[in-house]
Amino acid sequence: MNTNRYGVSVWQKDVQRTRAYPSLVQDLSADVVIVGAGITGLTAAAILSSEGKSVIVIEMGHVARGESGNTSAHLTEVFDDRYHTIARNFGQEGAMLAADSMRAALSFIEKRVQADAIDCAFKRVPGYLFSDDTDDIAELQTELTALLSVGVHAAFADGFPLPFQVKTALRIENQAQFQPLAYLAALARSVTNNGGRIFEQTRAIDFDDGEPCKVVTEHGTLTAKHVIVAAHAPVSNRVALLTKIAAYRSYVTAWELKSPVASGLYWDTKDPYHYIRTYESGDKNYLIVGGEDHKTGKERDTLSRYTELEAYTRARFSVGELVSAWSGQILESVDGLPFIGLNSASDHTYVATGYGGQGLTGGTIAGMMLSNAILERAQPWKDLYDARRIKPVAQARRYVSENVDYPSHAVADRFAPGEVTDVSEIPRGEGRLVRAHGHMLAIYRDPDDKLHARSAVCTHLGCNVKWNTAESSWDCPCHGGRFDCKGQVLNGPPLTDLKEIDADKMPEAKAVKAESPVDASEKA
Ligand SMILES: Cc1cc2nc3c(=O)[nH]c(=O)nc-3n(C[C@H](O)[C@H](O)[C@H](O)COP(=O)(O)OP(=O)(O)OC[C@H]3O[C@@H](n4cnc5c(N)ncnc54)[C@H](O)[C@@H]3O)c2cc1C
Ligand code: FES
Repeated sequence: MNTNRYGVSVWQKDVQRTRAYPSLVQDLSADVVIVGAGITGLTAAAILSSEGKSVIVIEMGHVARGESGNTSAHLTEVFDDRYHTIARNFGQEGAMLAADSMRAALSFIEKRVQADAIDCAFKRVPGYLFSDDTDDIAELQTELTALLSVGVHAAFADGFPLPFQVKTALRIENQAQFQPLAYLAALARSVTNNGGRIFEQTRAIDFDDGEPCKVVTEHGTLTAKHVIVAAHAPVSNRVALLTKIAAYRSYVTAWELKSPVASGLYWDTKDPYHYIRTYESGDKNYLIVGGEDHKTGKERDTLSRYTELEAYTRARFSVGELVSAWSGQILESVDGLPFIGLNSASDHTYVATGYGGQGLTGGTIAGMMLSNAILERAQPWKDLYDARRIKPVAQARRYVSENVDYPSHAVADRFAPGEVTDVSEIPRGEGRLVRAHGHMLAIYRDPDDKLHARSAVCTHLGCNVKWNTAESSWDCPCHGGRFDCKGQVLNGPPLTDLKEIDADKMPEAKAVKAESPVDASEKA
């Protein structure tokens, strides 16, 4: 595999950024401040600005370059957790409401594409849930019954269009796919055309849920009646919501196709599962194959995930060059549905998180719901997705398995040894934890042999970060916070960068400095 192709999604390669938005440089106010310019934030901003609300969107990176730019872009009305599980956890009425919301999201996207003539290759395609194990037939039969009961048009497939054998498959009609970045660029344009303001490279570092609400950034404070935290992770909610979601990395590869493959969305029943789709761009046909998920911060050798995907792909398809390979963050909810609505103990700050692998539909649902809440309109799905809900029975098993990381790391990390005892053991382009004088340091050796040292203590709740080889990042195993190789926040919940090492106060940093040039003072 050619490792130069890692890190940038096929969507980002295909749609160059044509518009840059300014950074915030002063205090401002608006009716609504939205934190995060992915599909959640931009959908809400487009609706609210078209209804006459003054809207400010702030984005710590660039528009649509978060998980909405890392997606595999299938638009579906079904859930990873399956409708029979949703019905068990939320009742048949809840499952029907969930299906209604997913269909409404697909229809919202389709109508916008048509109304604004958005050139984003939107098309309706079938979805296939397949298995190569006869033991899964009964499970798929149960799911088919649940799908039909909530109005999804599905049946056991009469033939499977991919070039390999499966034991069984469900075919689900009228799902969809699109080029997400082209769609989101059009939403962003409509926000500014409606008078909304978008600021890039502007990070929220603090929230005050008063009347009015305040969002503090590094270069100005925003004041608004309502705040929507559309940052994927619930960055304004330090603890309560975080016990109900778990962060996973998912890996995707895009290949040049040598022989045509029927358009569609395909995913298997394995855990972790594989997902497959085609994507046509101009005269190019790509095959997209993803999966190999694991909990964030639990693996250093993440490159092996791409190797597994390559072996899986080449064993089943006739593909040429690898076009791109990337990974992204998936936030799984403990009871199978996202959390959308007012933040805990809050009257004007809204959150939307825990979409799992359906965040394009989930983010669209959230954008619609939160706009309706602010516009004081009917919200048929409000109770279903309530961000403050607790479903003790539904959550119990996953809750326990997903929540052992924080308490165990919080204790064990204090006494853990470093990964290497001498910085000379850190290869170029790699990072390792080094313990020195009671402090854990995250030390990265760049390709030019320069060392960059930060505290390894995650600025959220204090777990030690872990190196991620494929992404060259420091990932936190507790709640999925991520930092780049020099300590700058990539993914919440942390709001601030890994702490710099004060070389005067920390003799170990001086020691590192003596061994090799260390950047322990530059601002990340
Ligand atoms: C590999 C992969 C495959 C996927 N495949 C699918 C799929 O096929 N179908 C599907 O429906 N979903 C899929 N998903 C999920 C879906 O892409 C995401 O759930 C969805 O895009 C999330 O949208 P969002 O707007 O909530 O978050 P994002 O798109 O991540 O937007 C949030 C934005 O907030 C910004 N931000 C964060 N913190 C701050 C802060 N403090 N201040 C300012 N800005 C901040 C971030 O920079 C980011 O741009 C996939 C995800 C991944 C990673
Ligand atoms: S301690 Fe929560 S993300 Fe790191």
